[in-house]
Amino acid sequence: NQSIDQVSLQAFEWLTKFYHHVLAHAKEALIGKQYLEERGLSQEIINVYQIGFSPHANEVTTKFLEKKSFNLQHLASTGVFTRNDQNQIFDRFRGRIVFPIRNHLGKTVGYGGRSINGEEPKYLNSPESALFQKSKMLFNFDLARSEMKKKGQAILFEGYMDVITAAQAGITNGVATLGTSATEHQAALLKRYVDHVVICYDGDSAGFNAAYKAARLFLKAGCQIRVATLPDGSDPDAFIKQNGGERFKREVIEESSTYMGFVMTFLKKGYNLKVEADRIAYVNKIIEEIAGLNSAIDRDHYARELANEHQLSFETILNEVNHLNQARGN
Ligand code: UTP
Ligand code: MN
Ligand code: MN
Ligand code: MN
Ligand code: MN
Repeated sequence: NQSIDQVSLQAFEWLTKFYHHVLAHAKEALIGKQYLEERGLSQEIINVYQIGFSPHANEVTTKFLEKKSFNLQHLASTGVFTRNDQNQIFDRFRGRIVFPIRNHLGKTVGYGGRSINGEEPKYLNSPESALFQKSKMLFNFDLARSEMKKKGQAILFEGYMDVITAAQAGITNGVATLGTSATEHQAALLKRYVDHVVICYDGDSAGFNAAYKAARLFLKAGCQIRVATLPDGSDPDAFIKQNGGERFKREVIEESSTYMGFVMTFLKKGYNLKVEADRIAYVNKIIEEIAGLNSAIDRDHYARELANEHQLSFETILNEVNHLNQARGN
């Protein structure tokens, strides 16, 4: 007598093989294959990540699992399948490329399905379930773990394709959130393996805002963080495809900013520094940020930088910083 979770895990294991096989062999998956080829993924990396394709006709997938003696009603209740209004059972990924999402033990517990015909949403993910808790997991954690530990560093990406393209280019310490903002739980998870986290989100305003939030979260978890920024409109997968992994390492990862370096540029975007009142508000905001730094040397360094940048008295700024820092109980 098996638990519900064990049955779901077995179904996911078969499904992953099935989708992967469909991508490799089915005529209807040819567009999927071409799509991945255009995006620069090699057959080898497609195999490593067990990327697949879900057939357009629903019965193909459901019959496959029925033949393996799975109870579809049961699988629908655990999120492997979905039900429509007429209570019919559907594979939600029909016609999409499927990226298996593995737990820390390397077992598939869900999928991210990418549309290749412009259909919205671009990515459809498996629903939350006992096995698939998006806020507690990281994509690629199982494969990246040993490399992260060896390097003492993890790279946090936004998307599945960023992780996979980076891995193909030999950058194998990358993980990603699962379509939601980073959480404390994920920060604590990474902190168990690494001290250094490079946050490497997309070069758009959504990516910038999310990087700021993630940076604060990872700092709070006790990680040493850096924030990498990409050219406007680019993202890690596009950058690597265009420029290769070596340039990505040199120009994006190695040149990533310290937390305060990033914050000073990031927060500037919200103010018009030509206006005096805005400038004062900006300076006060940065003072607050500096006051939150744990190291007195760091606080001194950035207070000096801020003073120089705005022709202010270093002593006044440092006083204010230390005052706030003590008020925080640091
Ligand atoms: P992006 O829009 O940056 O996608 O979303 P991407 O990773 O660059 O994907 P490609 O290169 O266009 O294929 C980042 C992540 O946000 C989640 C996915 O996890 C995606 O990888 N997302 C995005 C969704 O869950 N749903 C969406 O509709 C879009
Ligand atoms: Mn085969
Ligand atoms: Mn994005
Ligand atoms: Mn992106
Ligand atoms: Mn992308």
